Amino acid sequence: MVASADIKITRVAKSRVGEYDVNNVPFGKIFADHMFIAEYENGKWSKCSIQPYEDVPMSYALSALHYGQAIFEGMKAYKSDEGVVSLFRPIDNFNRLNKSAIRMAMPEVPEEIFMGGLTELLKLDKNWVPDGDFGSLYIRPFMISTDEAIGVRPSDNYKFVIICCPAGKYYAEPVKVLIEHHYFRSVRGGVGYVKAAGNYGRSLYPTRLAQDKGFQQVIWTDSETNKYVEESGTMNLMFVIDNTLLTPALSDTILAGITRDSVLAVARDWGLKVEERKISTEEIIAAHNAGTLMEAFGTGTAATIAHIKAIGFEDHLYELPAVEDRKFAPKVDEFLRNLRKGREQDKHNWMLKVC
Ligand code: COI
Repeated sequence: MVASADIKITRVAKSRVGEYDVNNVPFGKIFADHMFIAEYENGKWSKCSIQPYEDVPMSYALSALHYGQAIFEGMKAYKSDEGVVSLFRPIDNFNRLNKSAIRMAMPEVPEEIFMGGLTELLKLDKNWVPDGDFGSLYIRPFMISTDEAIGVRPSDNYKFVIICCPAGKYYAEPVKVLIEHHYFRSVRGGVGYVKAAGNYGRSLYPTRLAQDKGFQQVIWTDSETNKYVEESGTMNLMFVIDNTLLTPALSDTILAGITRDSVLAVARDWGLKVEERKISTEEIIAAHNAGTLMEAFGTGTAATIAHIKAIGFEDHLYELPAVEDRKFAPKVDEFLRNLRKGREQDKHNWMLKVC
């Protein structure tokens, strides 16, 4: 890990944390005191610093703004009942960031910079980690290209930055989702399997159209056949049909979600039958009509587990059983919450204690 001695640390004169109830702030709007920055120039990473969170002066020609050479991660830190701050599966986020970097022709971030910067930042901003049952510190590592040049080519310069914000629930209520079959989130050979900033920008217009119809989110289908479901909004998608947990198999159009992987691992630990495969819209509707569609939910770092209460498809609304009657998703949600608070045995070694 990059030692704290190699990070130029400038602390805030006075912490802002006392101005907020960190257990009760809107998602993604209030930022912790400090941020970590590493700069890539002349073919190498250098200049690691932690400084007070602030706006960045920048050129309007910044290449990330024009061509979207920008990637990010979403991860969380939790505070146990004893006050210990731990990260959930940080190495998986580190590996996925670099997978995104490769696909977007960006330099990979060394592990010692990612983990060293993150650890030092958390030590400084420990008081920003909520201690309530549903709270966490949402961590946003990201990389942007920083050449000031109009011209489409990989940038020579980059910044890797980590900012943090206290977070509660992303969705306060179960969501109503619309199966989208005109617009697509990702295509074969594209960037759907990585966290490229543009994946999210392109989703906004179809999502707004769905919201205008009273839905909170869309379910994306595959762009080749329009038959198979892939993700929902910014989440991986899961169903319980006939006591089997089903989720679309990973491909280059689906993000390898860390919450997705965790939920599948816990389901297998509990002896539930799990299938990762193509799931058609037809199969979901048929299961609903046969009374075997017991649960549908999204998984993601921000959303954790988002229960789906109804699915819209071609002018029909298919209502699902009430969340209280669901056997799997509420239970795995609670289990993961308790694990992150240090109340469950961590048999997969997912938690990394920081301070
Ligand atoms: C996450 O779940 O962490 C995401 O990145 C989704 C979203 C907040 C963009």
